[in-house]
Amino acid sequence: MSRLKGKVALVTGAASNPGLGRTTALRLAEEGAKLVVTDLDLEGAQSCADEINGAGGDALALHQDVCDENRWAQVMNRVSEQYGGLDICVNNAGIAVLVPIEEMSLDQFNRQIDVNLTSVFLGCRAAIAAMKNRGGGSIINVSSVAGLVGLNTCVAYGAAKGGVRIMSKSVAVEAAQYNIRCNSVHPGVIWTNMQAQATGLDDPSALNASTMRIPLGRPGEPMDIANCILYLASDEANYVTGAEFVIDAGMTAQ
Ligand SMILES: NC(=O)c1ccc[n+]([C@@H]2O[C@H](COP(=O)([O-])OP(=O)(O)OC[C@H]3O[C@@H](n4cnc5c(N)ncnc54)[C@H](O)[C@@H]3O)[C@@H](O)[C@H]2O)c1
Repeated sequence: MSRLKGKVALVTGAASNPGLGRTTALRLAEEGAKLVVTDLDLEGAQSCADEINGAGGDALALHQDVCDENRWAQVMNRVSEQYGGLDICVNNAGIAVLVPIEEMSLDQFNRQIDVNLTSVFLGCRAAIAAMKNRGGGSIINVSSVAGLVGLNTCVAYGAAKGGVRIMSKSVAVEAAQYNIRCNSVHPGVIWTNMQAQATGLDDPSALNASTMRIPLGRPGEPMDIANCILYLASDEANYVTGAEFVIDAGMTAQ
């Protein structure tokens, strides 16, 4: 219950339900962190903060477009006003526009790079500035298995997520001097609104695990990712930086 006692965490893309950001925020709060939850969808982020506060935690919801450079500065100022600083930053917000390369417009390509990669650069830069005078911190960037292997219709999404993977390692090397750690997580098929939209299904039991080549034979749950992020956020991972955590039931082991 207190693995993150006294720490302040920011989670982007925390509105979607079911979604990885929301479940992560709830899990970090359960372990004692104070939470700032942001999203384009303020109502959804507020509902996440309400759930945390209703359970006796401490959370603030803010509207944020993660692609907006100025908004990052405003969000960090607000975090500092409210909680005095930042210890954990989870760059989770993302979109998946899965289109075959021959049908993909340049705008669609660029949008996915902006939301899935450029935003992570902005988030890491802002987090380092907020954490460096605090003696350290932990940045966790949500990539994907699509950032590790080639997947159908994932030209832009995979390029962005592969960029997140290697950017996280560069950030880890550069920010180590401030005792700031940076790691990437790589979910496989996890049942969220994004996955429902991508597959066109409304129930995880309808997913065909063998067609999707998932050795454990089932989609994952948001908590499978949240628990890994919790570990990376906590002092248990004090010696872990520049690493990639694959949570995919064996998909990319094949
Ligand atoms: N679900 C999966 O199977 C899976 C697998 C691999 C990686 N991921 C990654 O995990 C992260 C979370 O995915 P999810 O499945 O929970 O998706 P989701 O669509 O359910 O939630 C994503 C959230 O990000 C928000 N968002 C989108 N664009 C934004 C922007 N510009 N600014 C602020 N917020 C924005 C959305 O409003 C939404 O609340 C994403 O980065 C996604 O690429 C998911």
